[in-house]
Amino acid sequence: MSDLPTPRNGPSVYLLAAHPNWRESRVNRRLLAAARALPEVKVCDIYVSYPDYDIDVPAEQASAAAANLIVLLHPVQWYSMPALLKLWLDEVLAHGWAYGIGGTALQGKALWLVATTGGPESSYHPQSYNRYFFDAFLPPYEQTAALCGMRFLPPLLLHGAHSASEQEVLAHVAVFAERLKAYPAWPELAELDACPACDVPATDRPQELSNAGPPQGAKALLTDGAAVPFASVGAP
Ligand SMILES: Cc1cc2nc3c(=O)[nH]c(=O)nc-3n(C[C@H](O)[C@H](O)[C@H](O)COP(=O)(O)O)c2cc1C
Repeated sequence: MSDLPTPRNGPSVYLLAAHPNWRESRVNRRLLAAARALPEVKVCDIYVSYPDYDIDVPAEQASAAAANLIVLLHPVQWYSMPALLKLWLDEVLAHGWAYGIGGTALQGKALWLVATTGGPESSYHPQSYNRYFFDAFLPPYEQTAALCGMRFLPPLLLHGAHSASEQEVLAHVAVFAERLKAYPAWPELAELDACPACDVPATDRPQELSNAGPPQGAKALLTDGAAVPFASVGAP
């Protein structure tokens, strides 16, 4: 699609793969291998890159900014994403960078969710044990994209990852690789709405510490690493 900027250097796809236990993965590890085989895709296997949860925020922001498509690849865990991927969003999608004043780094890009569930599609139904259609769990992803000025692409899901036949898994991996290779030439993108404008009002933005003071109960770190309440730091 012509309205998506194509970076001049480097891969145009940045794929964040998040699986807390690759050794037990049946599907995601094959999706990861397929992505790694594509030169236009830069992959970050976040549980391997950041085993101590110490995310290199500037490096991640540079990788995300260089891409025009960001892919989240993960097994669904508790109707959401694995914890380290959530931390990636918390830290990398910073105010003033991804959203808010001056936060335009991701505008015009796209976010694609590629996820697997243990529950079969039939379990995501009001009459079954997951009680909701799977779409009910997508708004946090979709709105995260929208707040950052990104289009949320139709997710690629494999339900029933444990019970799917070998043939189904192989077909799913093939579709995934095809889509990655073809991006942005996906027929359905022409029909997709533009990203809605989500301007955060100034009153809802984080205040500068010097203006607002610390939030109640906030702690300051002393040089020896001990944490004390702000009120007692430099108090007369
Ligand atoms: C901690 C944890 C939470 C899970 N939560 C869900 C869930 O909310 N819904 C679901 O359908 N499957 C859930 N599962 C199953 C995983 O989604 C499933 O094992 C995974 O998608 C299989 O992909 P893989 O073969 O790449 O590991 C969960 C698994 C774990 C370990």
